[in-house]
Amino acid sequence: MTTSIKISPSILACDFSKIGKEVEALEKAGADYIHVDVMDGHFVPNLTIGPDVIKKIRPFSKKIFDVHLMISPVDKYIEQFANAGADIITFHPEATNDTGETIKLIRKFNKKVGVSLKPKSKIEIIKNYLDKIDLILIMSVEPGFGGQKFMPEVLPKLKELKKIIDKEKYNIDLEIDGGINFQNSKTVKEAGANILVSGSTIFKENNGDLKKNINLLREK
Ligand code: DX5
Ligand code: ZN
Repeated sequence: MTTSIKISPSILACDFSKIGKEVEALEKAGADYIHVDVMDGHFVPNLTIGPDVIKKIRPFSKKIFDVHLMISPVDKYIEQFANAGADIITFHPEATNDTGETIKLIRKFNKKVGVSLKPKSKIEIIKNYLDKIDLILIMSVEPGFGGQKFMPEVLPKLKELKKIIDKEKYNIDLEIDGGINFQNSKTVKEAGANILVSGSTIFKENNGDLKKNINLLREK
């Protein structure tokens, strides 16, 4: 069986002066998902956008909005992101007092549930929830900024998760996020990732040819 690879471009690397148009262009270029990085200047040392901006860009694409919350505490904002049009809501277990409750809260709004592991976060912190989640986002850079260098030391964790998911037949997507480029895309797919997030590579390589870069990441 060949797994179909999905590309989730991160709008963190887009031109924020025309963010709606950029989302539209990503859909035209063949993006599967739209990855939205939400940062609060507290959980991570950077600030980006919140639910009001997501609501504004939502009409520019019918693609799945893959919302990566790097905010703490996370629970009190879930409803706002759900109402803004997120389809997948991914949070970091370190950003909540009760991972199980945060999962339930996301479910209550009928959204897909993602949990994210920072480079140093261990599989153990999510192992009791594997039957309750749709996606695991493995960070291959420290969360906070685009354009960082891929950390190959997270590959064993990705491979281990893939093994567990296959063995137990969990229905979980494995998404890799941070420093993905044309040199490492094959490696991360072979390690088990089926969704690749990319900001810099998609918006900056080949003079910003979105279609070409999305296809290269998918096929390489
Ligand atoms: C980092 C974000 C990533 C990142 C991806 O905290 O979660 O989505 O911006 O950007 P690149 O592809 O530039 O590493
Ligand atoms: Zn992200």
